[in-house]
Amino acid sequence: MERLQKVIAQAGIASRRKAEEMIRDGRVKVNGQVVTQLGTKVSAKDRIEVDGIPVEREQPVYFLLYKPTGVISSVKDDKGRKVVTDFFPEVDARLFPVGRLDYDTSGCIIMTNDGEFANLLMHPRYKIEKEYEAKINGIPDKKTLKQLARGVRLDDGWTAPAKVKLISADRKRNTAIVRLVIHEGRNRQVRRMFEAIGFKVLRLKRERFGFLDLKGLAKGEYRELKPHEVKRLRELAVTQPSQI
Ligand code: URA
Repeated sequence: MERLQKVIAQAGIASRRKAEEMIRDGRVKVNGQVVTQLGTKVSAKDRIEVDGIPVEREQPVYFLLYKPTGVISSVKDDKGRKVVTDFFPEVDARLFPVGRLDYDTSGCIIMTNDGEFANLLMHPRYKIEKEYEAKINGIPDKKTLKQLARGVRLDDGWTAPAKVKLISADRKRNTAIVRLVIHEGRNRQVRRMFEAIGFKVLRLKRERFGFLDLKGLAKGEYRELKPHEVKRLRELAVTQPSQI
């Protein structure tokens, strides 16, 4: 048995708090009856409706995908390009990605059908570390990298402090590999951060999300997250205001 608001949140209809509001407002029915009691528990057999629309319930599932470049972080694409859900033909669940990686970024991305879990991990208040490896055109000096670590000004505001490390420099080709750890998740953030210090990202890979890395996965492969990993991610999100 699960609490009604939790079931609604897991189905991705609303946050748990919003679901509670919906219940209080009389918008939720269980087996045809309006339920306004917040503590109400429901089983898998109960029929739940929100605003007259049946809530489709699935067992929550959680995967880690090694997204290759040339793939959209979405469940479908108008232009017929490959999307992250294409890697799960044998999984019978309505999966979606937690956050997004750009079309030309590779790396780890969590896939789930649990809307509440996804909201939790993506909420800006919860600061989960993401580690990126960027190949850039040019070789930044220490001072420039320090600037990146302290924070740079983007058109949507200053970035929070980041961890930055120069991994290697190719003087002949005039390129460098830089590791960057951030805990924000703004649109195209890493590319824009490098642009802000005068460099273009030539290649970008997300090596780590929280404690999850790509070990054991080849491009396009995925693995199911273990229950203890899902639990730890939830705890990370809620209990760690900042890991930097
Ligand atoms: N930052 C970017 O610029 N792109 C991504 O895909 C992820 C982070």
